[in-house]
Amino acid sequence: MGEANGKASDLKAGFVQIYSQLKSELLEDPAFSFTEDSRQWIDRMLDYNVPGGKLNRGISVVDSFEILKGSQLCHDEFFRAGVLGWCVEWLQAYFLVLDDMMDNSYTRRGQPCWFRLPEVGTIAANDGIILRNHIPRILHRHFRDKTYYAHLLDLFNEVEFQTASGQMLDLITTHEGKKDLSKYKMPVYNRIVQYKTAYYSFYLPVACALLMAGENLDNYVDLKRVLVEMGTYFQVQDDYLDCFGDPSLIGKIGTDIEDFKCSWLIVQALEIADENQLKFLEENYGNPDPACVAKVKSLYNDLNLQAKFSEYERSSYEQLISSIEAQPSKQVQEVLKSFLHKIYKRQK
Ligand code: IPE
Ligand code: MN
Ligand code: MN
Repeated sequence: MGEANGKASDLKAGFVQIYSQLKSELLEDPAFSFTEDSRQWIDRMLDYNVPGGKLNRGISVVDSFEILKGSQLCHDEFFRAGVLGWCVEWLQAYFLVLDDMMDNSYTRRGQPCWFRLPEVGTIAANDGIILRNHIPRILHRHFRDKTYYAHLLDLFNEVEFQTASGQMLDLITTHEGKKDLSKYKMPVYNRIVQYKTAYYSFYLPVACALLMAGENLDNYVDLKRVLVEMGTYFQVQDDYLDCFGDPSLIGKIGTDIEDFKCSWLIVQALEIADENQLKFLEENYGNPDPACVAKVKSLYNDLNLQAKFSEYERSSYEQLISSIEAQPSKQVQEVLKSFLHKIYKRQK
C-alpha cells in the first residue's frame, strides 16, 4: 500500500540500513568482552525484537526533521535523524519485550513473543534491560559532540519514566484487589494511555527532530499537548484492534478481555450497559475461558461498539485537525499532519 509511494519506500530502505550499522557497533562494543555465544545471543535478540514493526515512530523522526529543516537532508543529517529514529524503536522494543511478559501475550509482529521461545523464557527480562541500555550506548557514540546531547539524554530519560509510570498505572488498575469494573471510567483510561503510549510514541519522535533542528523543547508545550491527543487516539485504535482487528494484519492476538484490561471498549460498554448487561460483563470480563471471551465480544456487538468506534475515529480526527491548524508554525502543522495521516483509519 504505502509501497506505491516511491519516496516513502526509499526512506524506509535507507532507514533500515542504519539498523545494520547500529547492530554491528553494539556487537563490537568494547565495554564488554563478547564471547561467541553472547554475541550471537544479542545478534538474534536484536533481529527478533527491534526491526520487525511498522517503524512509524522511527521514520517519523526523519520525516519530521526534514519538514522542520525545510529542505532535503544531506547524508549526515539523514543518518543522524535515522539513528535517533532507531533509538525510539529500541525503546519500543524494550517496552514490548517486557509488556508481553506482563500481559501474558502470545504473539507480536506476526511471531511468538520473545519470552515464549523455549530457549528464552525469563531471560527476556534481562534482554529488555539490555535493549534499554543500548540507547545511551548509541547516543554516546553518535551524539556526544552535539550541543543538544544532554537534552537528548534528558528527553529519553523523561519519556522512559513517563512510559514506565503509565505501564504501572495500566498494571495496578488491572490487578489491584478483586475484579472491579466500577473504576473503569474515561478519566482513568485517558491517564493510563497518555503515559503508557502517547509520550514515547508521538511526543518523543517529534521532540528528537526538534532538538536536531536546534529548537528548545520548553517552547513547544502546546505541541506536546496535541501529540498526547494523537497518542490517545492511537491507543484507542490499538484497543479496538485488540478485539476487532485481523490478527494476521496487526501481527498479534488480542488479550485485553482475558487480561481484564481497562480498554477503551470496556469503558464504552460500561457507559451504556443496562443492569443485566453489567451483570453479564461482571461474570465474563477478565475470564480467560474462550467461551467467556466470546460472550463479551458478542455483547460488544449488541452494544454497537464498532459503530461507536467509527464515530470516535471521525470526531477525534476532526478535533485533531483543528488543534493542528491552531499551531502557530506551518512546519509544525505539517509535521503533525504527516504523523496523523500515517495512523488515521489504520488496520494494523
Ligand atoms: C503497551 O500497551 C504500551 C507499551 C509497550 C509501553 P499495550 O499492552 O496496550 O500494547 P499491546 O497491545 O500489547 O501492543
Ligand atoms: Mn500488551
Ligand atoms: Mn500492556
